[in-house]
Amino acid sequence: MRTKIGLIVAAASVVAACAADAPTGPPFRTDATVRMLMANLVDPAADLVWDAVGTIVDVNGENHWEPETEEQWLSVRYGAMSMIEAGNLLMMDTRARDQDQWIRLSEAMMDAGTLMFQAAEDEDADRVFALGEDVYNACNNCHMLYWIDDADRGRAIDSASGGAAP
Ligand code: HEC
Repeated sequence: MRTKIGLIVAAASVVAACAADAPTGPPFRTDATVRMLMANLVDPAADLVWDAVGTIVDVNGENHWEPETEEQWLSVRYGAMSMIEAGNLLMMDTRARDQDQWIRLSEAMMDAGTLMFQAAEDEDADRVFALGEDVYNACNNCHMLYWIDDADRGRAIDSASGGAAP
């Protein structure tokens, strides 16, 4: 028993010594602010999935579009995958506004992105279209809580996404 405790103490001090010397983790760079991520990663990613499938009915009749080529499907998968990974970026130390609600809302965006990715892998245009609403809600739920009373909000919506973003 004695030796066992001795060993544990010795092991613990080795760990402590390493912790003091070693860096705390990979040298993540978090210079990009939440706003920069939104404007240059999250919003363009959402546009790729939102714009991929649609129908417009006007005097000339019905115009429907959906991905047809491998390249067009890749662009939907790319948008969805970017959204999933952007969730991780939003949860990083300097970006997370809190450790509770913000984390859950970031995860909700990742969940919506994951379903979207699967639909794109299955090349199921109807599902991509339907899931667009889940993505929209995931964005909007966070914006209602954390992007409020911002005088620039209208401008950002106009300039960043042609008026279509939440
Ligand atoms: C976890 C929270 C969260 C989620 C999820 C989120 N956003 Fe945001 N978003 C914010 C916050 C906070 C701001 C305001 C940032 C600021 O001005 O500092 C913002 C700002 C923006 C802006 C304005 C950027 C600018 O140029 O000022 C756009 C566009 C945007 N979000 C799009 C989206 C879209 C599209 C989604 C979903 C695919 C999304 N966001 C999901 C928190 C979130």
